[in-house]
Formats: sequence, C-alpha cells, structure tokens
Amino acid sequence: MLIQRALSRARVLSTSRYFSSLSSIQMHIINLPKSPPFSFSSNNHGCNFLKSKPSSSVYVPFVSSPYSTAAFSLGKSSRKGVVPLAALLQIGGVQIAKDDVVKENDPTNNVPDSIFAKLGMQLHRRENHPLGILKKTIYDYFDTNFPGKFEKFDDLCPIVTVKQNFDDVLVPPDHVSRSYNDTYYVNSDTVLRCHTSAHQAELFRNGHTHFLVTGDVYRRDSIDGTHYPVFHQMEGVRVCSPEDWSGSGMDGTAYAATDLKRSLEGLAKHLFGAVEMRWVDTYFPFTNPSYELEIFFQGKWLEVLGCGVTEQAILHASGRTDIVAWAFGLGLERLAMVLFDIPDIRLFWSSDERFTSQFSEGKLGVKFKPFSKFPPCYKDMSFWINDGFTENNLCEIVRGIAGDLVEEVTLIDNFTNKKGMTSHCYRITYRSMERSLTDDEINELQLQVREAVQNKLNVVLR
Ligand code: DAH
Repeated sequence: MLIQRALSRARVLSTSRYFSSLSSIQMHIINLPKSPPFSFSSNNHGCNFLKSKPSSSVYVPFVSSPYSTAAFSLGKSSRKGVVPLAALLQIGGVQIAKDDVVKENDPTNNVPDSIFAKLGMQLHRRENHPLGILKKTIYDYFDTNFPGKFEKFDDLCPIVTVKQNFDDVLVPPDHVSRSYNDTYYVNSDTVLRCHTSAHQAELFRNGHTHFLVTGDVYRRDSIDGTHYPVFHQMEGVRVCSPEDWSGSGMDGTAYAATDLKRSLEGLAKHLFGAVEMRWVDTYFPFTNPSYELEIFFQGKWLEVLGCGVTEQAILHASGRTDIVAWAFGLGLERLAMVLFDIPDIRLFWSSDERFTSQFSEGKLGVKFKPFSKFPPCYKDMSFWINDGFTENNLCEIVRGIAGDLVEEVTLIDNFTNKKGMTSHCYRITYRSMERSLTDDEINELQLQVREAVQNKLNVVLR
C-alpha cells in the first residue's frame, strides 16, 4: 500500500472539477515554481517508447462521466492549439500533449518518456484483459449486493494536483511518499496519481455516496516480477447516514466498520470462493480504524485490500458533516496475478497474441498457460555511489533503456571502504517474455545502461 510501503513493504496493491464536455472543463493553470523544491539529477533520461504503436495512436473514447477530465491546464502548446501530433493523448475528454507531462529540462519534473507512453493505455478498460475482467467481476458483486447504488468511474484523469493526491486524504506534509524518489511529478503542484484515493475528496464534495474508482496509478519503484511503475487500483467508498445506523445499537463508526467488513468479506468470497479470511489492524492516514483483509489462498496468507472508516476530517473538508463512510483500495494486478496465475507483472502490458488470446470477458480465473520461458541473461555493474543515489533512480534508467526486457534489478554487493566510499553492485536480469534475446542486443543495452547511469546519476563505475 502506498502509505505502508513508504514505511516499508508490499507495493503492487500496494490504490477537480471534471466535466466530460471540453467547454465546461475548469482549468487550473500549472505555475512552475521559481526555485525547484528538489534537485533531481537523474530524471528525464532519453527513454524509448516501448509500445509498438506510438502513443499518438491511442484514443480513449469519451465516457459520460462528469469527472472524466483533468484538474490541470494543458500546457502552453495545447492552449495555443499547437500540439505535436506525435504525442497527443485524449483521456476522458482532455487532450494531453507529451510536453505537458514530460519536461526534460525542468527540475520540478521527473516523468520520463517511458511513463508518458503508458498514459492513456487504460488496461482496466479492456474487456478481454485480465484487469478489465477483474474490474467487471468486482462491479458485478457491488451491483448484485447494492443494486443501483454504486457509481463507477474508470476514466478519471491520472494527472492530479498534489492537493488531491496527498493533502485531501491527509497524507502528512513530510510523508516519504511525497518525495520525488517515490512519485512522478509533472511540476511541484501536479503529479501522476499514485493511488486512486486521490479522487475521494472531490467525489464526496460533489455528493456521491457510493462509488468505485478504477484507474492506472504511478509510482517510482524498484524492478522485479511484481513491481512495475504503472499499475491499477480500485477504490470503493460507501457513505452511511444516521438512518442507517440509528436502529443498530451502534454508533456511526462501529456501524460503518461492521458494514465494511461484511461487504468486503463478501467481495473476497465472490473473487476467491470460500477461503479462510482474517482482518489485520493497520494504519492509513485517511481511515480510522484501518484494516487489511487477508485470505488464505494457495497455501499462504495473501493481502487482498486495505480499508477503513474514512477520517471525519476528509468528510468535513468536503462539506459533509452528518455522515460516516467506509473506503477500500485494492491493487488489480496483485489479485489478477493470483487469480489468473500470471507469473510476471510485465505480461499485463504484452500485446503478444499468445497472451492476449487467453482471456475473455466474464471468465475470471482462467489459468494462464505460459507459452514458453526464455532464458535470462545476467549483467552485473558496480559503481561508487554518491549521497543522492537511490535505487529507484537507477531502475528508472534501466527501464528507460531496456523497457520490458528488464526483469529484475537486484543489489548483490554493498560495501564501504576505509575512505568512506560506498560501492554497490547490481545484477540486471534481462529476459523477454516473448522471444530469445541475442548476446549482441543485450551487450548493446548494457553498454547504454552503463553510460546513462554514469552520466545521469553521477556515479563512478568500477
Ligand atoms: N490508497 C491506499 C494505497 O494506495 C489503499 C487504500 C487503503 C485505499 C485504505 C483506501 C483505504 O480507500 O481506505 O496504498
């Protein structure tokens, strides 16, 4: 979970005023601060676009949601209508040009090309994709158990303000998840949302009482089979009012907590069958009490979601004083990987027919049949690090060059010499999900990685 992970662990789940017609979009101009809050030396490396189709060809159709657009202004180029066609996205009715999001020479921006290439892909909106199938199965559960109650949003723009992403959900100002090391900043006021909770406050403010928000979320991270800088979450929220709890003998919070647990146990059963479940007390800034739901599945305890009773301060700030609410957030990849037996998170992005053809709408839990496992290729690199070095920065460079050919980056040696200099040795595992890699191509990639790491991270290769 975002917040817990920032405090240390599992990351795949860990979860404005928008109008669908362009004329009614309320724009907020992005003001670049005069002095950058951070000096970030390793952002904006020259990355490849990873998709076979350039992002300019991605078109996301309008949906009739009042929240389907962005709370940010389009950059200068698009306001003037001069948008480079090579990189123009349309998300929920808003056009986003590449240079609105990727600003090579702006130290308040750390979004690489490779991340821009993912904006607008919206895997969760593909009906025959494991994430779309899972989303739909969760919708079905809420539609059956709360007929006509839950509104669904799956096209809210992932570019949100810092206020929406953090302040509105009470993430403390000094919280590590706000750092440039963990979050993609478009500028110091605007980020790529790192959880779908970023939309809660506004939906409350606009009077919504039962809603599911599904979307792509973005986090700078290390590289392995379960972590990818873009993944998908679903946020669910239900408001309870005094009429709900008045006859129950409970106060609002106790009622909401009971209703939350009952509803989410039902959801887990709907997804996983009759499994053993347990509730674990935890902490989130936005809920109190807060819990995690775990199920015993395939021989181990698996965290399914984080949830809790919404902090009253969030409801009050949204102008709601007489209600309580419960909320949950879950990571779609995390659940889809176990439900469909998908062994590597990169596969969700594969357009290889041998992957895509295995899934179809309505078929949750069809087991993925690996088409083959190609051999890995390992390359080690050692360097003296400097004070600003972080593994996330390194991983972003590797990902930017090797794309989805990189499977894992692992620290395999770490020592400090008598002069106080620290050396790290990383093993990079290259492996394609789709084909055998040649020595020449890996050597070429590794050469580029070494050069970029040296130049952008200012480390000294050994
Ligand atoms: N936003 C959390 C995360 O990304 C997930 C989450 C936890 C959402 C608890 C919630 C919640 O709404 O109540 O880690």
